[in-house]
Amino acid sequence: MRKGRFDEPASETAQLFSESVSIDRRLYHYDIQGSLAHAAALAAAGILSKEEHEQIKAALTVIEAEIAAGDFRWERALEDVHMNVEVALTKRIGAAGAKLHTARSRNDQVALDLRLYVKAEAAEVCARLRAMQTALLVLAEQHQNVVMPGYTHLQRAQPISFAHYLLAQIEALERDYSRIFAGAERADVLPLGSGAIAGSTIVLDRELIARQLGFAKLSQNSLDAVSDRDFACEFLFGLAMIGLHLSRLSEDLILWSTSEFGFITFSDAFSTGSSLMPQKKNPDMAELTRGKTGRLYGNLMALLTTMKGLPASYNRDLQEDKRPLFDSVDTVRQALDVFAAMLPELTINAARMEMAANDPNLFATDLAEYLVKKGMPFREAHEAVGKLVARATAARVTLSNLSLGEMQEVSRLFEEDVSGIFDVRSSLQKRTAIGAPAPENVSAQIARWKSLLVC
Ligand code: ARG
Repeated sequence: MRKGRFDEPASETAQLFSESVSIDRRLYHYDIQGSLAHAAALAAAGILSKEEHEQIKAALTVIEAEIAAGDFRWERALEDVHMNVEVALTKRIGAAGAKLHTARSRNDQVALDLRLYVKAEAAEVCARLRAMQTALLVLAEQHQNVVMPGYTHLQRAQPISFAHYLLAQIEALERDYSRIFAGAERADVLPLGSGAIAGSTIVLDRELIARQLGFAKLSQNSLDAVSDRDFACEFLFGLAMIGLHLSRLSEDLILWSTSEFGFITFSDAFSTGSSLMPQKKNPDMAELTRGKTGRLYGNLMALLTTMKGLPASYNRDLQEDKRPLFDSVDTVRQALDVFAAMLPELTINAARMEMAANDPNLFATDLAEYLVKKGMPFREAHEAVGKLVARATAARVTLSNLSLGEMQEVSRLFEEDVSGIFDVRSSLQKRTAIGAPAPENVSAQIARWKSLLVC
């Protein structure tokens, strides 16, 4: 690469600072796929003879196998995965290898490799989202009749079912799925053929290359194609959102596993002990998921910030896209694997949830709605029940312990049937609007997800 233009070799310090092969070598499969497609186009254009093309195909296949087997010698002095593969190829087959980079730049080459990587990893992430949704769904089905308090501000609010909570998580992961899926469509554009910035005077059949590599579209502007890392930013955002969802779920599970709540117990296999306190069983997987989400955000911010001041076209800054991308992909894949394996092993302490769900205060809103159904404007009903809550609190009794007489002092609309309000299951049964947690709705949602997730 330096042979013609430079008199001196690169400084060791500069090489160490600028090499990327220690990071980008994991793109080797995509790099070689790209080179095979490029070679086919060069052959079709008459730049490579049939024999040269065959030589290139055979040698690249051997090189790929060597890399996969760990037998390939990566040279830091050769900067990146692209130069390493190309130099190894030329060492083996000479002139034919030296022709491979015709009408190609590392600028369109690296954009290609990264797009192939994002497409493949998006599919991996989507499959893992599905696996985790399935694990949540199985739990929901197993515990369909378990009731619990719903919390707002982390204060007991209204009754829900545990399955309703789990279905909420499935919804969030579904948005993640469609976000990653849509992002992969944006990555599905072939940049190869854009050269360094302005294509080439040697014109290759880009449609042929796209077909061989399985791209749906061709980039339509060579300058944009080598500049663009939107697809990587989007993927990082999608991964950060998955982290956000897993982190919030983690927070709930951590809280619910405390002695104070006691709603769930993590299995031993997904818990850790304390080096000091013998009694401890800590929810480290959930905590680490929450913690690693910070790094997922950091990775997104790192790439967005790298991009923001760049002049149009390729700039070496773009090399910094890989570390955050690889790190976020690895982190999210692992976290999803952990959750898919950890969720089925959770112990659900239904009795504890049920006990908490029987807190009469959870039915204060139902009580107000009882009055509304008897004709009272909601604002007045809200105030009336507020008075009852204050009265019960002052008397240190529960709302359900107030006598009918005491209730009637606040409103004459209260009658004998008011005692039926404080039943968690009948409260849930009345919540039949679309999306609300009536048991029939919850089981319909479980059936819907079952058919969508095919499990
Ligand atoms: N290692 C580089 C990267 O990851 C490849 C492209 C280098 N292009 C260049 N003109 N120096 O972005």
